[in-house]
Amino acid sequence: MKADLVIKNIDNLLTLKGPNRPRIKEEMKEVGLIKNGIIAIKNDKIIYVGKGELPDDIKRHENTVFIDGKGKIVTPGLVDSHTHLVHGGSRENELAMKLKGVPYLDILEAGGGIHSTVEATKNSKFEQLYEKASRSLDTMLEFGVTTVEAKSGYGLDDFNTEIKQLEVANKLNKDHHIDVISTFLGAHAIPSKYKENSREFVDIIINDMIPEVANRKLAKFCDVFCEKGVFTIEETREILETGLKYGLLPKVHADEIEPLGGAELAAEIGCVTADHLVAASDRGIKMMAEKGVIANLLPGTSFNLQANKFAESKKMIKEGVPVALSTDYNPGSCPTENMQLIMSFASIIMKMTPEEVITGATINGAASLKLEDRIGSIESGKNADLVIFDAPNFEYIIYHYGINHTDKVIKNGRIVFEKSGKIL
Ligand code: NIG
Ligand code: FE
Repeated sequence: MKADLVIKNIDNLLTLKGPNRPRIKEEMKEVGLIKNGIIAIKNDKIIYVGKGELPDDIKRHENTVFIDGKGKIVTPGLVDSHTHLVHGGSRENELAMKLKGVPYLDILEAGGGIHSTVEATKNSKFEQLYEKASRSLDTMLEFGVTTVEAKSGYGLDDFNTEIKQLEVANKLNKDHHIDVISTFLGAHAIPSKYKENSREFVDIIINDMIPEVANRKLAKFCDVFCEKGVFTIEETREILETGLKYGLLPKVHADEIEPLGGAELAAEIGCVTADHLVAASDRGIKMMAEKGVIANLLPGTSFNLQANKFAESKKMIKEGVPVALSTDYNPGSCPTENMQLIMSFASIIMKMTPEEVITGATINGAASLKLEDRIGSIESGKNADLVIFDAPNFEYIIYHYGINHTDKVIKNGRIVFEKSGKIL
């Protein structure tokens, strides 16, 4: 077998080698570290991972590219498994209110928040949404992200806008280096028109929207913002179970602000992930562990909402819940594409170890998108999605926070980003 690309002399190669399923407990600390590592890639796949030199059966050809990994760290491509990538406008106007202590849910209740992004998204043309989201994907890629989940949810009862968002995400999946996995989040807020009659909106989601999204294969997952004043536990259950009937796998914004019992519901339904969980109950955490529901934690959101409370990641890991990490990139509660910053928050604020953090940002993120048999670790046969970081050890990336440590990003076997280092 002849390699197209070889990365050798890698000081610290974090393979994340292990079973192709969400990692739990002590497994979250096993990063499969190889010192003086070497990786060989052919086409878009990894064909060899080891130490030192290539074995005899892996040959070079005249165009084989060699990258020197001296002084570098290599990890699997980062997976950002919860974002609201496609949207119009921005909401910096809410900062002054937040600084005065106005709660996120009060801004929403007053018709601002998500509703103002719905307006901006409705008023944006397909091309405008595409361009804006494409620039965000470029930024994510620079920070080492090679796979992203993207939710709809800024059209609500304006179904054309929901469809437009999903079509933008699907087109970006084809056009951009990053793989974009779509989620239908029509149940992101109760539209003003249905404020007194949420039942009617739930019926539209169940009877009209979900069947059409599924038939047109516009999304892989279905999600609901289950929250006080938004969708109730019962409404969430109904929507997610309908989604499941149509082949959309369930995810849920659960216990983000108020402890409604979203974690318990996620376990009962068998959600792939329950996301946020800042206010999750002990019972909910135990139930998630039993059912293998992944806790997708988004510490950037707690930071941005000035919540003074973060998800109890250590408790979740101890109980056996697999933990994933993502940005939640959106204009209201987490306007950043910087996955490395989120990883630092996860460690510095939520007390996850660097090993748990990289597990959460790679293989457990991959499992959050049901892609764990293709991405999330550096093993022979997997997609060649890798990040080369310019750092002496992995802890350093977590410790020296807020900056970009990426040296190169490899997606499907090709170098798609390279730090230029030029100051002009
Ligand atoms: O995950 N909580 C609901 N959805 C997003 C925020 C969306 C917005 O404010 O625009 C979240 O926090
Ligand atoms: Fe979200």
